[in-house]
Amino acid sequence: MVREQLERDFERFRRQLPRDFPDHVREHYRIDLSARYLGFSIPHPVGKGSGQLSLNQDQLESDRDSGLAFVVLKTVIAQDAAGEQSMGAWAIHETRMKVERLRSAAETEGWTVTWKGRGWDRSFDEYLGLVRAAADLTSGGAIVAVPSVKYHLPRLDEAFREAEYRHTTEALAHAWGTTPLPLEKDFSPTLAGDRLAEEQAQILRWLREVPARIRAVAPVRLALKLMNARHDDEFQLRMTEAAGEADALVVFNRLWSPERGVAYGGHDLSDRNLRVLGALRSRSAEHPLLVGTGNVCSGRILLEYARLGCESVQLHTLFQLPLSEYPATSGTRQQRALHLLFFHPTEGVIAGMLDFETAGVIPRVGGELRFRDLAGSHQMHQRTR
Ligand SMILES: Cc1cc2nc3c(=O)[nH]c(=O)nc-3n(C[C@H](O)[C@H](O)[C@H](O)COP(=O)(O)O)c2cc1C
Repeated sequence: MVREQLERDFERFRRQLPRDFPDHVREHYRIDLSARYLGFSIPHPVGKGSGQLSLNQDQLESDRDSGLAFVVLKTVIAQDAAGEQSMGAWAIHETRMKVERLRSAAETEGWTVTWKGRGWDRSFDEYLGLVRAAADLTSGGAIVAVPSVKYHLPRLDEAFREAEYRHTTEALAHAWGTTPLPLEKDFSPTLAGDRLAEEQAQILRWLREVPARIRAVAPVRLALKLMNARHDDEFQLRMTEAAGEADALVVFNRLWSPERGVAYGGHDLSDRNLRVLGALRSRSAEHPLLVGTGNVCSGRILLEYARLGCESVQLHTLFQLPLSEYPATSGTRQQRALHLLFFHPTEGVIAGMLDFETAGVIPRVGGELRFRDLAGSHQMHQRTR
């Protein structure tokens, strides 16, 4: 019965996904999709990761109207009061993105977006305007929209440039207007390709010390978005451990191809991320709350991130595919992606959760299957602040 309903909903929502689909899912399937992102309660676990799809207010409003739970603004490069940016090489202007098919090492077909640009390339004042708009949208309650920064990262024998941390954090906190300021700190894949990141001790120092540098300036709820370093899985786990002072970890940003000089994703990215998260889980060590990112292109992959402890996921590539790739026939790409992720009759989140029920992975509580119980279905030892 319920499977037939899912088939019917999948068909009928091809034309238009209702914005309040989480209510529909709760009412008709008794599945509670509610989730969390950086301390915010959200109606379902899917948001948009920082990037070229969150550069202006129109994009944020479209995300809200399409029903995304959260969106992270493009990463701005920190600056001091005089406008100096030690990471200025990251503020590259590059408009062309290329959406390409990519076959993984395990021979699975996927997609990646190739782009040579890096951080926000307009003025800091313009970014602050976008942060004010994000704060307004967030207080409106229909979407959570948070800023993202890349701050100065020193060599081992250098000090952190406090002036950049101070000026940027103060300005963002002021633009946000209420406390605490929710913030992602990006350790980007382009950084993994930089000579700065060859030194393991250097990376671990950044992860250990950056949270205190930011919090010294203003009350911040902080997510560190960890890169996939060009070292082995064991080092990836050491990074997670070193980042223990953050409130949340976004795990893990895209892979770096030294041959092509570009970051990439696809199934190699989700395979690596899920493998490392599996290893993290089996250690049962304490770590901050987790937000998954990387090739979330089906409900099944979303659920794998969730079962490995991720409270929510942030996507980029799935919002950029050619229209012919989505089963939906109209609506924005965000709506079409949500339709695919939640309602696909075999690969979607609803189908997957019903399978988990049958397999005894999660029980119904008060008659409901709850998305948030998935992360707890493996004994995670997460710290809540
Ligand atoms: C063109 C492009 C630009 C991006 N820019 C940023 C960025 O400025 N800051 C950041 O934290 N992540 C950035 N990302 C990473 C995405 O937010 C996301 O975490 C990553 O692409 C993995 O998700 P996906 O496989 O769904 O694309 C970018 C990704 C792409 C494809």
